[in-house]
Amino acid sequence: KPSKTETLDRKNAEALLGGGQKRIDAQHKKGKLTARERVALLMDEGSFEEIGKFVMHRTKDFGLDKEYYLGDGVVTGYGTIDGRLVYVFAQDFTVFGGALSETHAEKICKIMDLAMQNGAPVIGLNDSGGARIQEGVLSLAGYADIFYRNTLASGVIPQISAIMGPCAGGAVYSPAITDFIMMVENTSYMFVTGPNVVKTVTHEEVTSEELGGASTHSTKSGVTHFACANELECIQYIKRLLSYIPQNCEDEPLRLPYEPTDETRPNLNTLIPDNPNQPYDMREIIEELVDRGSFFEVHKNFAENIVVGFARLAGRSIGVVGNQPAVLAGVLDINASTKAARFVRFCDSFNIPLLVLEDVPGFLPGTDQEWHGIITNGAKLLYAFCEATVPRVTVITRKAYGGAYDVMNSKHIGADMNYAWPTAEIAVMGAGGAAEIIFKREIAEADDPQAKLQEKVQEYTEKFANPYRAAHRGYIDEVIYPEQTRHKLIRAFQMLENKVASLPKKKHGNIPL
Ligand code: COA
Repeated sequence: KPSKTETLDRKNAEALLGGGQKRIDAQHKKGKLTARERVALLMDEGSFEEIGKFVMHRTKDFGLDKEYYLGDGVVTGYGTIDGRLVYVFAQDFTVFGGALSETHAEKICKIMDLAMQNGAPVIGLNDSGGARIQEGVLSLAGYADIFYRNTLASGVIPQISAIMGPCAGGAVYSPAITDFIMMVENTSYMFVTGPNVVKTVTHEEVTSEELGGASTHSTKSGVTHFACANELECIQYIKRLLSYIPQNCEDEPLRLPYEPTDETRPNLNTLIPDNPNQPYDMREIIEELVDRGSFFEVHKNFAENIVVGFARLAGRSIGVVGNQPAVLAGVLDINASTKAARFVRFCDSFNIPLLVLEDVPGFLPGTDQEWHGIITNGAKLLYAFCEATVPRVTVITRKAYGGAYDVMNSKHIGADMNYAWPTAEIAVMGAGGAAEIIFKREIAEADDPQAKLQEKVQEYTEKFANPYRAAHRGYIDEVIYPEQTRHKLIRAFQMLENKVASLPKKKHGNIPL
């Protein structure tokens, strides 16, 4: 008869094997790690404490009364990443394909509740065939219990979802509510219905990868914020992302020690081309402004006409939003607006100051945009900025035209400090269009309409294609030399460090969704 310790040893060993060695080998053969291997890579060495290792399902139907695995297909617990507390759940594909049962869901809910009570991030490593089919509605109830907690936790603790295998049907809606989604190229996919159902309903022939792989969701739909080359990279991204964000909404992001060095950056003087219609890469400006190598781009391949990401300025974490003149001239369209709006709201929820770099010719015209609701969607970005109470600083590098001038963190909607470079053009619209409208009759009646138009364009350009009208009004706090921008930003964010701003008391706003 085994001793009591031997019984525990045996159970521990059994739990570690999940669905058994054969299924572990099959997982490795697909180029995937097991749930436990993923957790080990994610957490600081030796810091992981497992919760619910011996939990088993309670189903008796369809032969499940004879098939039990300790842990029931999900590894849950807590530990540290770079010394900071996090809660984690990792679905174990070797047990019923990681399918979610009533007890599997209970384990996830337990660590989510602990995370909320103790104010620390939750990281979900998803790899699952969806609802445990043998359990029926119990499994659906389990999903709903998780969705409900995801929603209540939103804006209280950071929630990060890594998709490292299948994630289909109702299962997609937990990651969708969390703050960030990461997907692994070629081994993960997300969709509400798979290729077979798609074929039946819409007669489209599509592979899983095309329908909902990492490339699709990082470029076409924007569902995922990061497409990672492999699982290792995915885990590194999670750690890097966490380094910029605080533990909860009442905490401050981690600040790194910083020694002032090269605060004057002469390269910035030459990054804007002389010709105002020539593109340049806003990323180059961001890299020059922030601490060297600290820019961590989010949603890199989606709506590339706007750039968003985290960075550090004098060691302090900031969120950066920049129009991207290199893509579609940096115009704001539906995708760019929703991408940036969500990022702004994340930063505001978690006390991360915002830096906005503006070079925007306006909103994208056309039936496609109008019929898909550029009005409602553009309003999301406007709303997100208006509502943000974190320190907010804008630098207008070149164009700030039309309604987009207002939307892009203008002084009027609550930005704290607004700077402009001497190259800034702040006006209702470009000089060509403006002259054609306001001098229409004069031009038509002129002996040489073309010459008249040129003359009027010139006049409008001289009057408005500069930052000084706005500066005279105080809409721009200072027109600055590009090379001094970094220095100005460090000082401005320091000055704003103790900013107190609150919104009118209400249940919650009604952002145009
Ligand atoms: N419920 C219960 N068991 C499930 C399951 C589910 N939803 N999904 C997968 N499994 C089991 C399989 O029966 C298999 O068990 P075994 O190891 O005892 O043979 C194991 O998980 C692995 O599944 P398998 O189909 O062999 O793996 P795969 O990599 O070829 O395919 C999926 C993975 C997810 C594409 C496939 O399993 C699938 O389509 N599952 C059903 C998805 C679904 O419709 N879910 C319900 C709606 S939310």
